[in-house]
Amino acid sequence: MKVCVITGGGSGMGLGAARAMPNDRIFLLSGRTQQKLDKAAKQLKAEGRQVYIKTCDTSDKKQVHELARYAASLGEVTNVINAAGLSPSMADPEKLLRVNAFGTVYVNREFAKVMKKGVIVDISSNSAYQLPKMLIPEKTYRLAEKQEQEFLKRLLRMCGLIKDDYKRSGLAYALSKNFVLWYAKKSAFELGDRGIRVCSLSPGLVATDMGELEKGEGASMLKHTAEKRMGTPQELGFAIAMVADERNGYLAGVDVLVDGGSVSGKRS
Ligand SMILES: NC(=O)c1ccc[n+]([C@@H]2O[C@H](COP(=O)([O-])OP(=O)(O)OC[C@H]3O[C@@H](n4cnc5c(N)ncnc54)[C@H](OP(=O)(O)O)[C@@H]3O)[C@@H](O)[C@H]2O)c1
Repeated sequence: MKVCVITGGGSGMGLGAARAMPNDRIFLLSGRTQQKLDKAAKQLKAEGRQVYIKTCDTSDKKQVHELARYAASLGEVTNVINAAGLSPSMADPEKLLRVNAFGTVYVNREFAKVMKKGVIVDISSNSAYQLPKMLIPEKTYRLAEKQEQEFLKRLLRMCGLIKDDYKRSGLAYALSKNFVLWYAKKSAFELGDRGIRVCSLSPGLVATDMGELEKGEGASMLKHTAEKRMGTPQELGFAIAMVADERNGYLAGVDVLVDGGSVSGKRS
Protein backbone atom coordinates (compact mmCIF):
# COMPACT_ATOMS: atom_id res chain seq x y z
CA MET A 1 0.00 0.00 0.00
CA LYS A 2 1.12 3.59 -0.67
CA VAL A 3 2.49 5.55 2.30
CA CYS A 4 2.24 9.33 2.63
CA VAL A 5 4.61 10.74 5.25
CA ILE A 6 3.98 14.18 6.70
CA THR A 7 6.59 15.74 8.99
CA GLY A 8 4.96 18.41 11.12
CA GLY A 9 1.75 16.50 10.39
CA GLY A 10 0.32 16.90 13.89
CA SER A 11 -1.03 20.39 13.22
CA GLY A 12 -1.52 23.26 10.81
CA MET A 13 -0.98 22.81 7.09
CA GLY A 14 0.63 19.39 7.46
CA LEU A 15 -2.59 18.11 9.00
CA GLY A 16 -4.57 20.08 6.39
CA ALA A 17 -2.59 18.30 3.66
CA ALA A 18 -3.40 14.86 5.14
CA ARG A 19 -7.09 15.76 4.96
CA ALA A 20 -6.81 16.81 1.32
CA MET A 21 -4.74 13.86 0.04
CA PRO A 22 -6.50 10.91 -1.62
CA ASN A 23 -7.67 8.34 0.95
CA ASP A 24 -6.19 5.28 -0.79
CA ARG A 25 -3.01 5.26 1.29
CA ILE A 26 -1.52 5.00 4.74
CA PHE A 27 -0.63 8.27 6.47
CA LEU A 28 2.41 8.50 8.73
CA LEU A 29 2.40 11.70 10.76
CA SER A 30 5.47 12.86 12.64
CA GLY A 31 6.52 15.74 14.85
CA ARG A 32 8.21 16.16 18.23
CA THR A 33 5.09 16.14 20.44
CA GLN A 34 3.31 12.84 21.05
CA GLN A 35 0.02 14.42 22.25
CA LYS A 36 -0.25 16.56 19.13
CA LEU A 37 0.21 13.47 16.96
CA ASP A 38 -2.28 11.44 19.02
CA LYS A 39 -4.91 14.16 18.62
CA ALA A 40 -4.34 14.54 14.86
CA ALA A 41 -4.41 10.76 14.33
CA LYS A 42 -7.68 10.49 16.25
CA GLN A 43 -9.26 13.18 14.05
CA LEU A 44 -8.05 11.61 10.80
CA LYS A 45 -9.09 8.11 11.85
CA ALA A 46 -12.56 9.43 12.67
CA GLU A 47 -12.65 10.74 9.09
CA GLY A 48 -11.89 7.23 7.79
CA ARG A 49 -8.13 7.42 7.21
CA GLN A 50 -5.53 4.83 8.07
CA VAL A 51 -2.99 6.63 10.25
CA TYR A 52 0.30 5.82 11.99
CA ILE A 53 2.35 8.21 14.07
CA LYS A 54 6.00 8.43 15.10
CA THR A 55 7.80 11.15 16.99
CA CYS A 56 10.78 12.56 15.13
CA ASP A 57 12.80 15.74 15.45
CA THR A 58 13.79 16.51 11.86
CA SER A 59 16.92 18.35 12.98
CA ASP A 60 18.29 14.99 14.18
CA LYS A 61 19.62 12.96 11.25
CA LYS A 62 19.39 9.64 13.10
CA GLN A 63 15.72 10.20 13.98
CA VAL A 64 14.94 11.06 10.35
CA HIS A 65 16.76 7.90 9.24
CA GLU A 66 14.59 5.87 11.64
CA LEU A 67 11.42 7.62 10.46
CA ALA A 68 12.24 6.76 6.83
CA ARG A 69 12.92 3.12 7.70
CA TYR A 70 9.70 2.90 9.70
CA ALA A 71 7.75 4.46 6.81
CA ALA A 72 9.23 1.91 4.39
CA SER A 73 8.21 -0.92 6.74
CA LEU A 74 4.56 0.18 6.37
CA GLY A 75 4.46 0.02 2.55
CA GLU A 76 5.69 1.87 -0.53
CA VAL A 77 6.63 5.44 0.38
CA THR A 78 5.16 7.54 -2.44
CA ASN A 79 4.57 10.99 -0.93
CA VAL A 80 6.70 12.95 1.54
CA ILE A 81 5.44 16.30 2.75
CA ASN A 82 8.07 18.03 4.83
CA ALA A 83 6.02 20.58 6.76
CA ALA A 84 8.06 20.51 10.01
CA GLY A 85 9.40 23.94 10.74
CA LEU A 86 9.94 26.70 13.27
CA SER A 87 9.33 30.44 12.92
CA PRO A 88 11.23 33.51 14.24
CA SER A 89 9.20 33.77 17.49
CA MET A 90 9.84 30.13 18.31
CA ALA A 91 13.62 29.79 18.23
CA ASP A 92 17.03 31.41 18.03
CA PRO A 93 18.88 31.60 14.69
CA GLU A 94 20.88 28.41 15.19
CA LYS A 95 17.81 26.33 16.00
CA LEU A 96 15.93 27.81 13.03
CA LEU A 97 18.76 26.86 10.70
CA ARG A 98 19.08 23.37 12.18
CA VAL A 99 15.35 22.57 11.92
CA ASN A 100 14.39 24.37 8.71
CA ALA A 101 17.59 23.92 6.68
CA PHE A 102 19.31 20.76 7.97
CA GLY A 103 15.88 19.18 8.58
CA THR A 104 15.14 19.55 4.87
CA VAL A 105 18.49 18.03 3.90
CA TYR A 106 17.94 15.03 6.20
CA VAL A 107 14.35 14.45 5.07
CA ASN A 108 15.13 14.62 1.35
CA ARG A 109 18.23 12.45 1.62
CA GLU A 110 16.89 9.79 3.99
CA PHE A 111 13.58 9.40 2.19
CA ALA A 112 15.24 9.29 -1.22
CA LYS A 113 17.04 6.18 0.07
CA VAL A 114 13.78 4.31 0.74
CA MET A 115 11.64 5.61 -2.15
CA LYS A 116 11.41 3.86 -5.52
CA LYS A 117 9.36 6.64 -7.09
CA GLY A 118 7.13 9.38 -5.79
CA VAL A 119 7.20 12.99 -4.70
CA ILE A 120 8.80 15.10 -1.99
CA VAL A 121 7.32 18.51 -1.16
CA ASP A 122 9.43 20.78 1.06
CA ILE A 123 7.50 23.57 2.72
CA SER A 124 9.31 26.91 2.53
CA SER A 125 7.79 30.37 3.08
CA ASN A 126 7.14 33.62 1.23
CA SER A 127 9.85 34.99 3.58
CA ALA A 128 12.30 33.19 1.27
CA TYR A 129 11.48 35.87 -1.32
CA GLN A 130 12.28 38.79 1.00
CA LEU A 131 16.05 38.46 0.66
CA PRO A 132 17.66 40.76 -1.89
CA LYS A 133 19.53 38.72 -4.53
CA MET A 134 22.92 40.00 -3.36
CA LEU A 135 22.22 38.64 0.15
CA ILE A 136 21.51 35.09 -1.04
CA PRO A 137 24.60 33.08 -0.04
CA GLU A 138 24.45 30.27 -2.59
CA LYS A 139 28.10 29.36 -2.11
CA THR A 140 27.37 28.72 1.56
CA TYR A 141 24.25 26.69 0.71
CA ARG A 142 26.54 24.23 -1.09
CA LEU A 143 28.18 23.40 2.25
CA ALA A 144 24.99 22.17 3.94
CA GLU A 145 25.36 18.49 3.12
CA LYS A 146 29.03 17.97 3.95
CA GLN A 147 30.22 20.90 6.05
CA GLU A 148 27.43 21.63 8.49
CA GLN A 149 29.56 23.59 10.97
CA GLU A 150 30.93 25.92 8.30
CA PHE A 151 27.42 26.40 6.85
CA LEU A 152 26.13 27.34 10.30
CA LYS A 153 29.09 29.57 11.10
CA ARG A 154 28.71 31.62 7.92
CA LEU A 155 24.94 32.06 8.14
CA LEU A 156 25.06 32.85 11.86
CA ARG A 157 27.72 35.48 11.15
CA MET A 158 25.30 37.17 8.74
CA CYS A 159 22.50 37.05 11.34
CA GLY A 160 24.85 38.32 14.07
CA LEU A 161 25.08 41.68 12.28
CA ILE A 162 21.52 42.41 13.43
CA LYS A 163 21.06 43.73 16.98
CA ASP A 164 17.32 43.18 17.51
CA ASP A 165 16.56 39.60 18.68
CA TYR A 166 13.36 39.15 16.64
CA LYS A 167 14.85 40.62 13.46
CA ARG A 168 17.95 38.43 13.87
CA SER A 169 15.74 35.33 14.05
CA GLY A 170 13.71 36.80 11.17
CA LEU A 171 16.82 36.86 8.97
CA ALA A 172 17.74 33.30 10.03
CA TYR A 173 14.19 32.21 9.13
CA ALA A 174 14.33 33.93 5.72
CA LEU A 175 17.75 32.39 5.01
CA SER A 176 16.63 28.93 6.15
CA LYS A 177 13.53 29.08 3.95
CA ASN A 178 15.46 30.51 0.98
CA PHE A 179 17.79 27.55 1.42
CA VAL A 180 14.74 25.24 1.23
CA LEU A 181 13.91 26.65 -2.24
CA TRP A 182 17.49 26.11 -3.37
CA TYR A 183 17.79 22.62 -1.89
CA ALA A 184 14.44 21.39 -3.19
CA LYS A 185 15.47 22.47 -6.68
CA LYS A 186 18.86 20.73 -6.31
CA SER A 187 17.12 17.56 -5.07
CA ALA A 188 14.70 17.67 -8.01
CA PHE A 189 17.55 17.53 -10.51
CA GLU A 190 19.40 14.83 -8.57
CA LEU A 191 16.38 12.58 -8.05
CA GLY A 192 14.26 13.24 -11.15
CA ASP A 193 15.68 10.45 -13.27
CA ARG A 194 14.98 8.01 -10.43
CA GLY A 195 11.29 8.92 -10.68
CA ILE A 196 11.28 11.09 -7.56
CA ARG A 197 9.74 14.48 -8.20
CA VAL A 198 10.73 17.29 -5.82
CA CYS A 199 9.13 20.72 -5.38
CA SER A 200 8.97 23.34 -2.69
CA LEU A 201 5.84 25.23 -1.72
CA SER A 202 5.93 28.66 -0.10
CA PRO A 203 2.92 29.72 1.94
CA GLY A 204 2.17 33.31 2.90
CA LEU A 205 0.78 34.14 6.33
CA VAL A 206 -1.58 31.30 7.31
CA ALA A 207 -3.86 30.99 10.34
CA THR A 208 -2.14 28.01 11.99
CA ASP A 209 -0.57 27.93 15.49
CA MET A 210 2.59 29.36 13.91
CA GLY A 211 0.76 31.97 11.83
CA GLU A 212 -1.16 33.20 14.88
CA LEU A 213 2.14 33.62 16.73
CA GLU A 214 3.71 35.61 13.88
CA LYS A 215 0.73 37.65 12.78
CA GLY A 216 1.74 40.75 14.79
CA GLU A 217 4.90 41.11 12.71
CA GLY A 218 3.43 39.43 9.62
CA ALA A 219 0.32 41.62 9.44
CA SER A 220 2.18 44.30 7.50
CA MET A 221 2.46 41.90 4.55
CA LEU A 222 -1.31 41.29 4.48
CA LYS A 223 -1.94 44.70 2.99
CA HIS A 224 0.13 43.62 -0.03
CA THR A 225 -1.97 40.51 -0.65
CA ALA A 226 -4.71 40.42 -3.26
CA GLU A 227 -6.88 38.61 -0.70
CA LYS A 228 -6.30 41.04 2.23
CA ARG A 229 -6.44 38.19 4.74
CA MET A 230 -4.48 35.26 6.12
CA GLY A 231 -4.71 31.91 4.36
CA THR A 232 -6.39 28.99 6.10
CA PRO A 233 -4.84 25.59 6.90
CA GLN A 234 -7.52 24.01 4.68
CA GLU A 235 -6.55 26.15 1.66
CA LEU A 236 -2.84 25.44 2.15
CA GLY A 237 -3.55 21.76 2.83
CA PHE A 238 -5.34 21.57 -0.51
CA ALA A 239 -2.50 23.36 -2.34
CA ILE A 240 0.13 21.09 -0.77
CA ALA A 241 -1.89 17.96 -1.57
CA MET A 242 -2.23 19.11 -5.18
CA VAL A 243 1.56 19.43 -5.49
CA ALA A 244 2.15 16.14 -3.64
CA ASP A 245 -0.39 14.19 -5.71
CA GLU A 246 1.30 11.80 -8.14
CA ARG A 247 -1.20 12.80 -10.84
CA ASN A 248 0.59 16.18 -10.93
CA GLY A 249 3.61 14.38 -12.41
CA TYR A 250 5.16 17.16 -14.49
CA LEU A 251 5.51 19.68 -11.65
CA ALA A 252 9.15 19.49 -10.58
CA GLY A 253 12.15 21.62 -9.68
CA VAL A 254 10.08 24.72 -8.94
CA ASP A 255 8.65 26.59 -6.00
CA VAL A 256 4.88 26.97 -5.81
CA LEU A 257 4.05 30.27 -4.16
CA VAL A 258 0.70 30.14 -2.34
CA ASP A 259 0.68 33.48 -0.57
CA GLY A 260 -2.51 35.30 -1.57
CA GLY A 261 -0.34 37.46 -3.84
CA SER A 262 1.85 39.02 -1.11
CA VAL A 263 5.15 38.70 -3.01
CA SER A 264 3.83 40.06 -6.30
CA GLY A 265 1.85 42.75 -4.44
CA LYS A 266 4.96 43.91 -2.61
CA ARG A 267 7.04 43.95 -5.80
CA SER A 268 4.51 46.05 -7.67
N1 LIG B 1 1.74 29.67 9.29
C1 LIG B 1 2.38 30.51 8.50
O1 LIG B 1 2.02 31.69 8.41
C2 LIG B 1 3.53 30.02 7.65
C3 LIG B 1 3.99 30.86 6.64
C4 LIG B 1 5.01 30.44 5.81
C5 LIG B 1 5.57 29.19 6.00
N2 LIG B 1 5.12 28.38 6.99
C6 LIG B 1 5.74 27.06 7.12
O2 LIG B 1 4.75 26.06 7.02
C7 LIG B 1 5.16 24.89 7.72
C8 LIG B 1 4.01 24.38 8.57
O3 LIG B 1 3.75 25.33 9.59
P1 LIG B 1 2.28 25.61 10.16
O4 LIG B 1 1.96 27.01 9.83
O5 LIG B 1 1.38 24.52 9.77
O6 LIG B 1 2.56 25.64 11.72
P2 LIG B 1 2.37 24.56 12.87
O7 LIG B 1 0.97 24.22 13.06
O8 LIG B 1 3.14 25.13 14.03
O9 LIG B 1 3.12 23.29 12.27
C9 LIG B 1 4.49 23.09 12.34
C10 LIG B 1 4.68 21.65 12.75
O10 LIG B 1 6.08 21.36 12.73
C11 LIG B 1 6.37 20.56 13.84
N3 LIG B 1 7.78 20.77 14.16
C12 LIG B 1 8.38 21.90 14.59
N4 LIG B 1 9.69 21.69 14.78
C13 LIG B 1 9.91 20.38 14.46
C14 LIG B 1 11.07 19.57 14.45
N5 LIG B 1 12.27 20.02 14.83
N6 LIG B 1 10.93 18.28 14.06
C15 LIG B 1 9.73 17.79 13.68
N7 LIG B 1 8.60 18.51 13.68
C16 LIG B 1 8.70 19.81 14.06
C17 LIG B 1 5.44 21.03 14.95
O11 LIG B 1 5.14 19.99 15.88
P3 LIG B 1 6.04 19.78 17.20
O12 LIG B 1 6.18 21.13 17.83
O13 LIG B 1 5.25 18.81 17.98
O14 LIG B 1 7.33 19.21 16.73
C18 LIG B 1 4.19 21.38 14.16
O15 LIG B 1 3.28 20.29 14.11
C19 LIG B 1 6.42 25.28 8.48
O16 LIG B 1 7.55 24.80 7.81
C20 LIG B 1 6.40 26.80 8.45
O17 LIG B 1 7.69 27.36 8.53
C21 LIG B 1 4.12 28.77 7.83
